[in-house]
Amino acid sequence: MRRIRQHAIWGHKGTFVLAATGSAVGLGNIWKFPYITGENGGGAFVLMYLVCILLIGVPILTAEILLGRYGRANPISTMEKVRKESGANRLWAVIGWMGVCAAFLILSYYSVIAGWTLEYLKAALEGKFVALDGDQSSVMFEELLADKSRLVQWQTAFIAMTALVLIFGVTKGLEFAVRLMMPLLFLLLLILLGYAIYAGDFAAGARFLFSFNVTDITWRGALIALGHAFFTLSLAMGAIMAYGAYMPGNLAIGKTAMTIAALDTLVALMAGLAIFPLVFATPGIVPGEGPGLMFVTLPIAFGAMPLGIIFGSAFFLLVTLAAWSSTISLLEPAVAYLTERFNFHRISANLLIAGGAWLLGLGTVFSFNDWAEFKPLWGMTVFGSVDFVTTSVLLPLGGLLIAIFVGWVMKRELIEQELKLDSPHFRQVWYGLLRYVSPVAVLIVLCAGVYPVLKKLVGLE
Ligand code: PFF
Repeated sequence: MRRIRQHAIWGHKGTFVLAATGSAVGLGNIWKFPYITGENGGGAFVLMYLVCILLIGVPILTAEILLGRYGRANPISTMEKVRKESGANRLWAVIGWMGVCAAFLILSYYSVIAGWTLEYLKAALEGKFVALDGDQSSVMFEELLADKSRLVQWQTAFIAMTALVLIFGVTKGLEFAVRLMMPLLFLLLLILLGYAIYAGDFAAGARFLFSFNVTDITWRGALIALGHAFFTLSLAMGAIMAYGAYMPGNLAIGKTAMTIAALDTLVALMAGLAIFPLVFATPGIVPGEGPGLMFVTLPIAFGAMPLGIIFGSAFFLLVTLAAWSSTISLLEPAVAYLTERFNFHRISANLLIAGGAWLLGLGTVFSFNDWAEFKPLWGMTVFGSVDFVTTSVLLPLGGLLIAIFVGWVMKRELIEQELKLDSPHFRQVWYGLLRYVSPVAVLIVLCAGVYPVLKKLVGLE
């Protein structure tokens, strides 16, 4: 077998937390979390989500970092090494492959949607939100989705920005970028929160997010909460495993996983608290817009607020940074594989993978216009299909396999060696959750996600 080239390890202790938080914090926190919370009962949903993060997200996050740090290589080589040293069947290596493939697939559509934020950043800076009404805002969004060349232009820009960082390598590119981007992201979020308190109806926003009603605790909500906990923590996509490989050996993995989960949740809640007060303070718009919340509702709110040009631009800059640090982590696993396993130069590896994701991403671009009626997979557009295969199948399946592998198959000494800096109490609770709670919960999510499609497939619907 060919030798795997040794990885760099980040010099600063905080880089791993910043990079992993950068991966975790993305469109999921700022675009998706606020609207799914709004749709699923506010406080009740937040509670279910917190339980999922704590009981299932943190244990799997810990397991994935542990695998990465032990392997000190890209996810594919890492899984090959760990499964060999644990005397496990070759098939377990599939975890690495699934992660790298899932990250590549997500990158293809994520960069298209992230591209929209660039268009909105430009529009905000040009003052296009000023005095925008509901109809105009919907038309603006629909026109963007119908305009293929503009979509491709922004998608290309976003993928190029992503590859540009990684071309500089793990320390000069990735480490440098997250150390600049993440503090700026938090600063912008704080400024926007301050603005929401000053210019928005903060009490109404907070009430909407946190008002708790027991009857809002539903199965459907719990499933959405668990699925989102996975997506938002970037679990089972190879990203966290790839970053784990660069983590210094003197950091406690469990404690670090909890910090990342806490920061990710904090950003999601802060984003909600920055967005809803503005929505409530603007007459004529409603918070329950679903996915249109960020691209249709918010521009109207910024357009009606004092200093809306500045704060609207700050908001879309925030979303761009959040999405950028996530796409970097989606590109890194495959790039690391090519450079380490096949000695690719970083430039050619980046061009190849980013180019491939760009090409596949065209399918997502066309899903909103020319191919809107093209449904390759059980009534879903290309975008819907790639989203379904990744978020509803690969992600929970990968999570399930990671939980079973680390919980039941991986040699206990290897695990203990990586977790020696965490307290015995943490190790005990973590192992119990990972072995018994996580697999069952993830299996339920997997079945619930696949069932409606299977039902359609066998013609029951
Ligand atoms: N966690 C990111 C978000 O919430 O937007 C999305 C993501 C990034 C998922 C990286 C998976 C991943 F590997």
